[in-house]
Amino acid sequence: MTSPQHTAPPPAPPADVPAGSVLSVRALRKDFTLHTIDGRVVDALNGVDLDVAPGEHVALAGTSGAGKSTLLRCVYRTYLSGGGAIWFRTSGGHLVDVATLSDAEIVGLRGREFGYVSQFLRPQPRRSVLDIVSSAGVARGMAREAARDAAAAALRQVDIAERLWDMHATVLSGGQKQRVNIAAGTIAPPRLLLLDEPVSALDPANRAAVLDLIARLEETGTAVLSVFHDLDAIERLATRVVVLGRGRVVATGRPGDILRDPNLPLEVAR
Ligand SMILES: Nc1ncnc2c1ncn2[C@@H]1O[C@H](COP(=O)(O)OP(=O)(O)O)[C@@H](O)[C@H]1O
Ligand SMILES: [Mg+2]
Repeated sequence: MTSPQHTAPPPAPPADVPAGSVLSVRALRKDFTLHTIDGRVVDALNGVDLDVAPGEHVALAGTSGAGKSTLLRCVYRTYLSGGGAIWFRTSGGHLVDVATLSDAEIVGLRGREFGYVSQFLRPQPRRSVLDIVSSAGVARGMAREAARDAAAAALRQVDIAERLWDMHATVLSGGQKQRVNIAAGTIAPPRLLLLDEPVSALDPANRAAVLDLIARLEETGTAVLSVFHDLDAIERLATRVVVLGRGRVVATGRPGDILRDPNLPLEVAR
């Protein structure tokens, strides 16, 4: 049967996605085949369910290899997932499954609605530090002048000296790149911000500045899904903690309860 426009019928709306969620991951699976070793298959994600609402900061915890980075990369579509759904509610109110969007649609969403900050910035070649940060603002709807001002303010806040603003980001140190990355990720805050150990390379003063910036995202309604190596950062920032173990959700709850549970597989770095 065809509709009058001869387009495919819209997919059935998922019944189990809460009306208020920005991100709803359902039965998500991802495996890796280790061709270079012996063809062994690693189940990195084994049926993960997870919701994140606007203004909520959900921190993923669990030991190394639990699947935290893989989950963030599947949501950002750096990795194609192997099953399940990744429902994202756009600013226009449409529910889309990130797992099945085209590459072009993903590129659009990344610019406008998703931010992703990892330990490493892959700086675009031949672009200045200021340009990288202000372009992120423009992509999320700011006027060019306003984006430059906001980029300057964000760079000051994460203590990137003005003499570095015209330089190519490729020449920066690891910690400086990480701070440029967080400035770009938080300027004109996106609907969903994915953070994978965003303060791992920073000294204490810069770490504090970046954590302050992340803490203020709550007021803007940004939904945050994060991984932090240190539990103090989780305790301070997260509204909820989801513990992964071997690619499954093994516990979820408030930071104060989860982080003090001696039976959970957490990596302790206090
Ligand atoms: N690109 C990859 N190729 C092969 N295996 C991978 C890849 N990325 C992750 N894995 C494997 O998936 C599992 C989960 O890894 P990861 O998501 O990085 O864990 P975490 O971030 O919690 O430390 C691990 O067994 C890891 O070795
Ligand atoms: Mg990781």
